[in-house]
Formats: sequence, structure tokens, C-alpha cells
Amino acid sequence: MSLAVLASLAVLAFSCPGVAAAGDTVSARQPLRGNATVVSAQGKFELGLFSPRASGRFFLGIWYKNIPVQTVVWIANRASPLSGVASAELRVSPDDGNLELVGLSNSSASRGIVWSSNLSSSSSVSSSPWSNLAVMRDNGNLVLLDGGNSSNVLWQSFDHPTDTLVPEGWLGENKLTGEYQTLTSWRNAEDPAPGMFTCTVDPNGSSEFFFLWNGSRAYWRSGVWTGRVFANMPEAVNNVLFNQTYVETPAYRRITSVLYNNATITRMVLDFTGQIKQYIWVPYSQSWQFFWAAPTVQCDVYALCGAFGICSQRSQPPCQCPPGFTPAAEREWGLNDWSGGCHRSASLQCASNGSTDGFIEIPYMNLTDDSLAVSAQSKAKCESACLKNCSCEAYTFSGSGGCAVIYGGFRNVQQLYVDGGGSSSSLYVRLSDSELRRARGTNTKNGHLWLVLGIVLACLAALGASALAAWILLSRRKRQAEMGNQKESSLVVYSYGDLRAATKNFSERLGGGGFGAVYRGVVNRHAQVAVKKLEGLRQGDKQFRTEVNTLGLIQHVNLVRLLGFCSSHHDKLLVYEYMPNGSLDTYLFRSGFSPSWHDRYGIMLGIARGLAYLHEGCRECIIHCDIKPENILLDKDLCPKIADFGMAKLVGRDFSRVLTTMRGTIGYLAPEWISGLPISAKADVYSFGMVLFELISGRRNTECYGTGHNSDDDADAGQRPSIFFPVWAASRLAEGDAAAVADPRLHGDVSEEKLGRACRVACWCIQDQEEHRPTMAQVVQALEGVVDVHVPPVPRALQHLAMQA
Ligand SMILES: *[C@@H]1O[C@H](CO)[C@@H](O)[C@H](O)[C@H]1NC(C)=O
Ligand SMILES: *[C@@H]1O[C@H](CO)[C@@H](O)[C@H](O)[C@H]1NC(C)=O
Ligand SMILES: *[C@@H]1O[C@H](CO)[C@@H](O)[C@H](O)[C@H]1NC(C)=O
Ligand SMILES: *[C@@H]1O[C@H](CO)[C@@H](O)[C@H](O)[C@H]1NC(C)=O
Ligand SMILES: *[C@@H]1O[C@H](CO)[C@@H](O)[C@H](O)[C@H]1NC(C)=O
Ligand SMILES: *[C@@H]1O[C@H](CO)[C@@H](O)[C@H](O)[C@H]1NC(C)=O
Ligand SMILES: *[C@@H]1O[C@H](CO)[C@@H](O)[C@H](O)[C@H]1NC(C)=O
Ligand SMILES: *[C@@H]1O[C@H](CO)[C@@H](O)[C@H](O)[C@H]1NC(C)=O
Ligand SMILES: *[C@@H]1O[C@H](CO)[C@@H](O)[C@H](O)[C@H]1NC(C)=O
Ligand SMILES: *[C@@H]1O[C@H](CO)[C@@H](O)[C@H](O)[C@H]1NC(C)=O
Ligand SMILES: *[C@@H]1O[C@H](CO)[C@@H](O)[C@H](O)[C@H]1NC(C)=O
Repeated sequence: MSLAVLASLAVLAFSCPGVAAAGDTVSARQPLRGNATVVSAQGKFELGLFSPRASGRFFLGIWYKNIPVQTVVWIANRASPLSGVASAELRVSPDDGNLELVGLSNSSASRGIVWSSNLSSSSSVSSSPWSNLAVMRDNGNLVLLDGGNSSNVLWQSFDHPTDTLVPEGWLGENKLTGEYQTLTSWRNAEDPAPGMFTCTVDPNGSSEFFFLWNGSRAYWRSGVWTGRVFANMPEAVNNVLFNQTYVETPAYRRITSVLYNNATITRMVLDFTGQIKQYIWVPYSQSWQFFWAAPTVQCDVYALCGAFGICSQRSQPPCQCPPGFTPAAEREWGLNDWSGGCHRSASLQCASNGSTDGFIEIPYMNLTDDSLAVSAQSKAKCESACLKNCSCEAYTFSGSGGCAVIYGGFRNVQQLYVDGGGSSSSLYVRLSDSELRRARGTNTKNGHLWLVLGIVLACLAALGASALAAWILLSRRKRQAEMGNQKESSLVVYSYGDLRAATKNFSERLGGGGFGAVYRGVVNRHAQVAVKKLEGLRQGDKQFRTEVNTLGLIQHVNLVRLLGFCSSHHDKLLVYEYMPNGSLDTYLFRSGFSPSWHDRYGIMLGIARGLAYLHEGCRECIIHCDIKPENILLDKDLCPKIADFGMAKLVGRDFSRVLTTMRGTIGYLAPEWISGLPISAKADVYSFGMVLFELISGRRNTECYGTGHNSDDDADAGQRPSIFFPVWAASRLAEGDAAAVADPRLHGDVSEEKLGRACRVACWCIQDQEEHRPTMAQVVQALEGVVDVHVPPVPRALQHLAMQA
């Protein structure tokens, strides 16, 4: 026994001079045994056995050598784990030259080949199989080289990705062998076996990538390659870190990427939640920083929550079981694997007399398939149609959509983010009598409660942020409360006919937004107004009037004023003051015209004051959620006014619409929108910071590295960094060079002091952690010059990128 140990030690000592992990190769003479590892030449990647979450199952994998949180990017035997490391061995087979993993698998008692590179003799002939070499490369690729000709790659891990794509790796199709390189998610956090979600190139030959559920149902598409980007992928992401390209040759078609700076550590992983997520390693914080995801909205992943599960974007975890149901697989559910779905706590009576089961209403649902339309004139008829059939599990009924019954379960239901009443999209789930009684005792509006709680907590946090701000706030509140008591909403109530006439039958469209189109109109013979025709409203008349009257009380010189409304049977319209100078984006990004620094600074201050009022001046904290130049209007004196505030509450729109209109993270969108944390007023602060940068630079933040900007100043574009502007600006600022970030069209005609102040404020506003961002009240003070602003740190998530500038 001890002799055997000595012998194997001797072999190790002989074959790996120095430390055991020094080499980067595995060969017939130099196998990898037990928990030994090999490390790539520059020490970037490590190959060896690991056990996810100490589950007692072992896998051969590749992970980053220098990252303390073990992050596995590739797995060989993902579906056939080893039960221990002691007898495991990775070797090059002396017979056929294959790289193979030998050991005790959990399913058989004897030692055997658990995994093999399966070289097919036809495609890749090795001249001397016994001397083949497996080499761990510094880009994360494990290659098996021909022993007789080391430039002949027989097999490589990049041809067989698991759930992660690293730079220089690829996804696509090998046209010669017909093999696809796809990503397949892990089943859950501790089981790397193939899960429900895959990402693959279009088998029909287009350049588009699909995300599939269960190998069949596409729930997200990249769009086709346009020559520079994929149509549905935000341009911003592709160009910041690496050069991503889609290449088609007679031998293959694939997407691959090259890092601009090979010190960057980044990876894309198809998560077991069905989203592809990009992370960047931030050495400064020693953590992975989430950077981007697709689909942006977690609940857009098909059947994320399994059968009978309900997906709610506003809860953590997003999956919930309806009342009367419990997770079918409790343990997996706890590991964020919701694919098992929910099952009934008590089975349906389904008595032949049919009368003991009942229904529980779950409001605000988006049910996209699984249902069968049935002709029924009333809700009662729809209900009885469902009760009649024992396999009917639920039904939906709406005035417009009619009756739809659901046999054998549903699997893709989303809870929408809404306030207010209406039952247009309710789901009625059939429950047995006993469960029904129990469920009625509990609150069914968890998602709703959660949201309210989140906002309240967030506002509290914002209030607590600084004693000074709190003091200012209190005194302001008092003033406003005094004013508010005397103020009555003085909104004009219009008839639909009035507004149709005023807008000449809605003929002059001023713009459109997430909530409906806006038209120009004239009331009282000469007063110009903007009339917004609301879409997607789910409220009854009474509630609409209440909400609108509340909105009418929110008045500030930097908020667009609501003048009146119309609440007819079919249409709900809002009448606003008219803004002759249009929105900030057309004003600022117009070519051949450059607003003066003085005007820009006035606009910055105005927006800040308007937002501060929304956040802290009103009786209820109002988070705008959608601050961007399109939502800032300018009156005739260029006084900025914020539009579309309070709309989320009024329209009760779907939460996800906020996200989808934004096209990815690098826009105006704070990171917490994607990470699923509660949204606070600080999300607006972040967006405001992004708008500030645009006012400073005179360009879209995302446009700086694009080509084809057809303004007269394209000469300057060449000198611009090819990275995201705020990042570059933040690093210039850290070096004390604020002047460099100003719009070149200003030709240096700026107040250096104010420019520095604006830059520093903008950079504080876009800090990753919301508690590091100032409140809007503090922003106002800083811009007014009442308080000094220190040079902020470069936002952590982006700091790594900034070093490349
Ligand atoms: C490898 O395994 C041996 C014995 O099984 C153990 O003593 C040693 O600490 C392990 N090394 C590592 C790096 O895990
Ligand atoms: C072996 O592992 C696989 C994958 O984790 C699992 O499905 C299977 O049940 C296990 N078999 C035994 C006998 O433990
Ligand atoms: C190798 O081939 C065997 C038999 O054809 C198959 O069962 C196994 O899944 C293959 N392994 C890999 C890694 O492709
Ligand atoms: C070595 O392999 C490469 C790649 O397959 C091939 O192009 C080259 O001709 C081979 N060299 C010899 C000497 O066989
Ligand atoms: C591929 O093309 C066929 C025939 O045109 C079509 O039926 C099929 O839906 C396509 N598949 C995908 C994934 O687009
Ligand atoms: C996934 O697809 C397979 C066949 O392709 C089917 O047998 C299985 O039931 C599907 N799984 C679910 C959860 O629908
Ligand atoms: C990206 O790579 C492609 C192909 O290698 C190359 O043509 C293109 O110029 C590169 N783009 C950038 C911005 O480096
Ligand atoms: C990074 O790139 C440089 C030049 O492109 C190269 O010399 C260097 O070896 C690379 N470093 C690593 C770790 O790949
Ligand atoms: C319906 O049938 C169930 C059991 O079969 C019975 O308990 C119940 O009393 C019946 N209800 C009516 C209204 O007949
Ligand atoms: C419901 O979901 C579908 C598909 O996910 C989406 O297209 C649609 O816009 C959603 N409806 C609402 C009201 O959100
Ligand atoms: C209930 O609905 C299922 C699915 O449509 C159908 O197959 C079955 O025949 C129905 N049973 C009755 C009693 O109507």
C-alpha cells in the first residue's frame, strides 16, 4: 500500500518537476491524477477536478486560476459526474490518442472511462497517437495536439462549450462535421448537467442566434448580423470590451470575439435562469460585476417558473406559486431551478356534480399561450365551462379577449407591474373548496405589496442619506404642506369631442412615447396645448379621475403642467401645456447647432430641481423611472420641464416596458433595474447623471464610438476614445482634466468651474452603489455651488474599462 503511494508520488515527482501544478500539459506519460491541476503558461486558467458547492460529485473543469471565487468556464463530464477524486485520472490514451477521464462514476461500481474526447478516426488523424499532448492555453482553450505535428489540433474545448463563452471562444456551426457549438445552461447552481435553456445559431443557416427552451421553443433572438452587431443586441456592449464578429467561411460560421485589452477578464454565461449574462471581473473589488443581460427582463424567459408557476419581475426570486400551490421540487426551487413548477396542495374535487371547486382571482396576469378560446358571453358562463371539465385548471376572461380555458396547466404566466383596478387580464385558478377557503384568508397581492414596500423603503433610505438633506427636506415639506392644503386641483374636464376638435381630429402628432401618442391642439381659441392619448390603461373611470387629480396637484416650474383631462367611455386623454421648443434630444443633438454652455447649465439645474421636487417635495415620493432627453421638454425660454412623471402609477403599465424601451444597460438605466433590486429614487439620479454627460458632451453617450455620425464635427470624432463616454470622462476627471470632456462644438467657451462641478456631479450620480449616489436635493445644491463636490471615484463597474482609454 505505502509502496504504491510512494510509487505514484515518484511518478508525479518525476513527471512534474518542481510543483505538481507547474505544467500546462497532460500526456500519456504525464496524466493528471486526483486533485492535481494543470495551469496555462501565463497562469490564467486552471484545469482539474472540482465539486460544485461541495456536492460530493466531481467534474473535470476549467476555471480562472487567479480569481478567488472559483468560476468554472468549461466542463467535460457535465452529465456524468465522478463520485470521488482519489481514483480519477485524466490521461491521453496510449491506444487511440484520445484525451479521457477515468474514474468511479456515481452510476457504476467499477472504474471506467467517464468522458472522452471521442476523436473520430476519419476527421483528424494523428500521426503518433501515443505522443498526443493536451495543452491548457491562456485563453481558456484546452487543446489536444497531434504528437507528431504539434500544429495539428485534433480536438479543442472551444469546439464543445458548456454554458460559458470566453473571448476567443466561439459559438456556431462546423459545416464540415455538422457539429454545433451551443451554450446549454446548468440545471441549477450545484448541478452542471444540461438544463432547459440553450443558445444556438439558426440551424436554417442565417446569422441569427436563438435562445431555446427545451430545445424547441425560441424565447429570444439576437437578430441577424448587420456587419457590425446583431440587430437586437445593444451596440453599446459589443464595442466596449471586445471586438465581436460573426464570420462565415466554407468550413464554419461562428460568432467570436477578441479583447481590446487582454488584461480584461470577462465572460458570457447562459444562466440557469435562461438569460445570457455578461460579467466583468473587477480586481479592485475582487468580484464579478454584472454588465449586461439578454433577455433583459427575467420573466421574458419562456416557462421560467415551470408548470403553474407565476413569474413576477418585482419579486426575488421571480418565481412564485399561486395560492393553493406549492413548489413541486422544494430543494431545486431553493437552488433557483424553478423548472419543476408548482403543484396543487390539495387535488381538485371535480365531483360529478361539479360544484365544490371554486376559483381564485389572480389579477394583472399576462398569459401568452396554453389557453383555448371558448365562446362564452359572461364570466359566469366561462367559469361554468371550466368547471364542467375535470382537466380544466384555470380560465381567463376579459371584455376584449373573451373567455379562454386552460387544460392541464399553464407554464408561461407573467405578473404585470400595475396599480389600480380592472380585471381585464385576471387569471382565475381553479382550487378545491378547502384550498379556496385557506387562500381567501391570505393576501393574494404579494407582488403589489412588495412594490409598495420597496418604494417606501427606498424613499426612507433616500431620506436617511444625509442629515443635511433631511433638514432641508423637512423645512421644504412643511412649506409645501402649507401650500398644498390650500391647493385644489383645478383641472379642466374636457369631452372627447372638445379634444377632437381642438386637435383637428388628432392630425398633428408631436411625438409618441411608452404611454401613447401626443398631439398638438388649441383650446379657448388660441391657447396651445399638447394632448396625450393614453394607451394600455386598465383603470375604471373613478380611479382614473382620482389619480389624475392627484397628478394635477404636482406643480413645479420644472415639471410639465397638467391642465385638464378627458375620461370618456373608450378614451382617456390628458391635456398638458404646450412646449414650443420640443424635447431636449432634438435641441441638443441637432446638427449644425450648439447650445451655449450657459443654456446647458440652466437646463441641468432645472432638471435637477424638477426631479428633487418629485422625489422629496410631493406628499408621495414619485420615482420617474424614465429620465432621458426625450422626456425633458423646453419652453420658449429654454426652461426645462420634465414630462411623463407619475405615469407608471396612472397607466399601470407593465414594468418590463421600462426596460425594453431602453435597449440594454448602457443607456440611462441604473444597474439595479437589471439586477432585480428594489428601485428607489436613486435610479432616477443615475439616469440624470447620464443626461448630464450628454449635456456636457453634446452627444449621445452611446454614440461616441459609433461611425456614421453625420454632423459637421466628425473631424473630432476621430480623436474620441472608442469607449463609453461616461467612463472615459470619469477617468479624465480623475486626472483633473475636466476641460477635455466638454463638447468640442463649444470651442472652449465654458465656465471651467461649472464644467468641473457638472462633471463631478454627473460622475457621482452614476456610481454603481445607490447609496454612493447623491440625492437630487444634494445635486441641486452642488450645481448651485452651495456645497463643494469632491472628485468622485470612477464608477467601479466601469473603472476597469476606463483603464483602456
Ligand atoms: C488533494 O488531496 C489530498 C488528499 O486527498 C489533500 O490532502 C490535499 O489537501 C488536496 N489538495 C488540494 C489542493 O485540494
Ligand atoms: C449520478 O449523477 C447524475 C447526475 O447528477 C444523477 O442524475 C444520477 O441520479 C446519479 N446516480 C446515482 C446512482 O447517484
Ligand atoms: C463519446 O462517444 C460515446 C459513444 O459513442 C458517447 O456515449 C459519449 O457521449 C461521447 N462523449 C462525448 C464527450 O461526446
Ligand atoms: C501539420 O498539421 C498542419 C495542420 O493540420 C498541416 O497544415 C501541416 O501540413 C502538418 N505538417 C506536417 C509536416 O504534416
Ligand atoms: C427553418 O426553415 C423551415 C422551412 O423554411 C421552417 O419551417 C422552420 O420553421 C425554420 N426554422 C427556424 C428555427 O426558423
Ligand atoms: C421537452 O421536450 C421533450 C421532447 O423533445 C419532451 O418529451 C418533454 O416533455 C419536454 N419537457 C417539458 C417540460 O415539456
Ligand atoms: C473587428 O474585427 C474585424 C475582423 O477581425 C475587423 O475587420 C474590424 O476592423 C475590427 N474592428 C475593430 C473596431 O477593431
Ligand atoms: C497581450 O497582448 C500583447 C500584445 O497583443 C501580447 O504581447 C501579450 O503576450 C498578451 N498577453 C497575454 C496574457 O495574452
Ligand atoms: C357534490 O359531490 C360531493 C362529493 O361527491 C359532495 O360532497 C357534495 O355534497 C355534492 N354537492 C352537491 C351540491 O350536491
Ligand atoms: C405579454 O407577453 C407577451 C410575450 O411575452 C408580450 O409580447 C406582450 O407584450 C405582453 N403583454 C403585456 C400586456 O405586457
Ligand atoms: C375535457 O377537455 C379535454 C381537453 O380538451 C378533452 O380531451 C376532454 O374530452 C374533455 N372532457 C369532457 C368531459 O368534456
